[in-house]
Amino acid sequence: MLNPNNAQLPVIAAPMFLVSGPEIVTACCKSGIVGTFPALNQRTNEGFREWLVSIEQSLEGVAHPGFGVNLIVHKTNPRLQQDLETCVEHKVPLIITSLGAVRDLVDAVHSYGGKVFHDVTTLRHAQKAIDAGVDGLIAVSAGAGGHAGTLHPLALLGEIRQRFSGTLISSGCISSGADVASAIAAGADYAYMGTRFICTDESRAAIAYKAMIEQSSAKDIVYTDKVSGVYANFLGASLAAASGEEAHPDGKPIDFGEELLAPEDGDAKAWKDIWSAGHGVGNIHSTVPVAALVDELTHDYQNALQRAADLVAKRH
Ligand SMILES: Cc1cc2nc3c(=O)[nH]c(=O)nc-3n(C[C@H](O)[C@H](O)[C@H](O)COP(=O)(O)O)c2cc1C
Repeated sequence: MLNPNNAQLPVIAAPMFLVSGPEIVTACCKSGIVGTFPALNQRTNEGFREWLVSIEQSLEGVAHPGFGVNLIVHKTNPRLQQDLETCVEHKVPLIITSLGAVRDLVDAVHSYGGKVFHDVTTLRHAQKAIDAGVDGLIAVSAGAGGHAGTLHPLALLGEIRQRFSGTLISSGCISSGADVASAIAAGADYAYMGTRFICTDESRAAIAYKAMIEQSSAKDIVYTDKVSGVYANFLGASLAAASGEEAHPDGKPIDFGEELLAPEDGDAKAWKDIWSAGHGVGNIHSTVPVAALVDELTHDYQNALQRAADLVAKRH
C-alpha cells in the first residue's frame, strides 16, 4: 500500500502515455518516490498483468512508498473493467483515474486498502470526484504536460482545498526540488511530476524527444486541440516536424486541418510522433538516471526549505 514513511520526497512521478513503464516505476520506488504508469501503455490486459508481476518481483523486499496505475475511466476504454479487476487482484496501492470518477471503482479499490487519486482541471470536476469518494485530487493546472488545464496552480489548489480535506496533489510545471517545495508550501501533500521524468534513462521516450525537451523553453510549448481533439501541451518543434510547417513564433496552434492525422491513426500515432511536454521544459537540461534525479531533487528541495526557514528565523 502507499507508505509515505518510505518516501524520500513528497513526489509522484506522473503516468505518461507511451513514456512510463515498469523500468521507471521500479526506479522511482527504489529511489523513494511513488512511480506510476498508464495501464494502456500495454496493448493488452495480459501484457498489463505481466508488467505488474515484473514490478512486484523487482520491488520484493524493498521498503518503498508504493506505486500506482492510471486507468482511463471512459466508455471508449474497452479494457477498463478487466484492468480494474487485475488491479484489485494485485492490490495495486494507488489507482489514478482520469476523465471519470466513479463510486463503484473507488469501492473496489478501497476493498483491499488501495487509494484512488483523481486528476482534475476544474472545481466542477473536483466536486464530482469528491462526491464519488476519492482519497486524493490531482490539481492539473495551466502549463502541465499532457491534457493540461487553464487555471493557475495557486488558484486551483486553493479553491479545491477549501472544499476537500483529503490528499491534495499539485500538477503542472514542477521541474526542480524548489518547485516541489513551492507546491508543498502552497498546501499540496505531493508534487506530481511528468515532463521532468521524460528526461530520465528509464523513460521510454525516444532520444530525440528527450533532446528536444533539453533544448526547449516555455515559449516553445503549444497548447492545442488539433492533435487529438482535446487541448494538450506539445513541443512546438515536434508539431512543426510532423506538419512540415514552421512552428508558429507566438505559440498559436498551427491549423493542420484533417491532414495531419487520418482518423484511423488514433491517439497512439498522434502521441508517438507529436511529443507532449509542459511549460517546465526550460528548467530541464539533462537526461539522467532516476536515482540521480531524485538525489538532485532532494538536495534542491532541502535547500529551498532551509532558505524559507532562514527567512522566518531572521524575522524573529
Ligand atoms: C507525454 C505525456 C503523456 C501523458 N500521459 C498521461 C496519461 O496517459 N494519463 C494521465 O493521467 N496523464 C498523462 N499525462 C499528464 C501527467 O500525468 C501529468 O499530469 C503532467 O505531466 C504534469 O505536468 P508536467 O508535465 O508539467 O510535470 C501525460 C503527460 C505527458 C507529458
